[in-house]
Amino acid sequence: MVSAPERVTLNPAEIMPRVVGRYTPVVADHAEGLYVWDTEGTRWEDWTSGIGVVNTGHCHPRVVAAIQEQSAKIIHSQANILAHEPMMRASLALTETLPPSLNQVFWTNSGAEAVEGALKLAKIVTGRSAIIAFRGAFHGRTHAAMSVTTSRVKVRGHYEPLLSGIYYAPYPYLYRAPYKGPAEEQDLRYFEEIEMLFEQMVMPDDVAAVLIETVAGEGGYMVPTKRWMQKVRELCTKHGIMMILDEVQSGMGRTGKMWGFEHFDVVPDIITVAKGIGSGMPVSAVVSSKANMDKWAPGSHGGTYGGNAVCTAAAYATLQVMKDEDLPGNAARMGAILMDGLREIQRDYPVIGDVRGLGLMVAAEFVTPDGAPNPAAVNKVLAAAMQEHVLLITCGTFDQAIRVIPPLTVNEQQVRDFLGVFRRAVASL
Ligand SMILES: Cc1ncc(COP(=O)(O)O)c(C=O)c1O
Repeated sequence: MVSAPERVTLNPAEIMPRVVGRYTPVVADHAEGLYVWDTEGTRWEDWTSGIGVVNTGHCHPRVVAAIQEQSAKIIHSQANILAHEPMMRASLALTETLPPSLNQVFWTNSGAEAVEGALKLAKIVTGRSAIIAFRGAFHGRTHAAMSVTTSRVKVRGHYEPLLSGIYYAPYPYLYRAPYKGPAEEQDLRYFEEIEMLFEQMVMPDDVAAVLIETVAGEGGYMVPTKRWMQKVRELCTKHGIMMILDEVQSGMGRTGKMWGFEHFDVVPDIITVAKGIGSGMPVSAVVSSKANMDKWAPGSHGGTYGGNAVCTAAAYATLQVMKDEDLPGNAARMGAILMDGLREIQRDYPVIGDVRGLGLMVAAEFVTPDGAPNPAAVNKVLAAAMQEHVLLITCGTFDQAIRVIPPLTVNEQQVRDFLGVFRRAVASL
């Protein structure tokens, strides 16, 4: 038998490919709730939630138990061959959290795969091919998902040709709105950019879908206005276009409501779900109406692992924890304290230009004295927070913002302690 190398000798920089760029040199050993312990025994606070994934906290006992129990029963029962209870239970539990029209679930394995599925479904339902996406959006790194992604050129650069038939309007980035006129009307100018696509570039009856991140994620945690979102909904309805909301990052309680779109009083035609749904297991979903799903002929889309038994058991347990512990409610309450605290720090330190977000999907944008994006300050704050064993990550095209996305189980003391760390880190600039 070949003996495993001592774990202290394992060096990720030598073993893992460069493309897996990392924020930290930390090698994780185990985790619980907000905390991760490294292989040296040092405890870190995870204010990244593994990029918005462990909404129930690391290794929630009910999720762990569900994974353990299911893995001893059946791990893989391919969805085209056998149905199984975890997938069906998780489907029902997921649709119970959604408006009645979002009543069927197609299970996939990652956010990008859910986006691929949603785009394909929209094409089948409408019989059309064009897609409207938003400048600054992030939807994943597979070819179609990359084609609708414009948050940073590094995601799509050097991979041409990408999918054709995609038209881009700017995502409402209200902090940096470029238009003339009163601030409260900037959302209307952004909306007019979508209408301009119909004047200049694409016939509305060629458009299958408008694909929107309900709250922009990687692109900078921008929150659109309710009026903008509702006008897009009306536009889609008027032209028979599928409104797809990408809830991969904004869903599963993150924004202080179960789904980000609940803040905007709209009902989309299709949503994508990932990240928080599996508490860390690789599971995602496309959700739409049965009428739409009925148009998808058997075998015209699918995959070997979609709806994996252990993953959907984790999803079902996650959905139960979300409800039983009212995690969206806790996200709203803790998010309010976090946002107030960050705004207080912003008042003392003009290097923070904007604090924005919903619930526990929050970011602080750093600026130079003349208001330009300031990734250098962001890097220093991240490094100073790491000195106090607090993990944070960035967002934004220029890495100009720091996102604060703890597990939704976080408590008030943890939030207040974090605000102390953040203030000291900003003060150290
Ligand atoms: C809104 C959104 N959509 C899609 C994705 C892609 O998800 P994945 O990395 O699981 O493919 C992400 C990932 O960050 C995301 O934030």
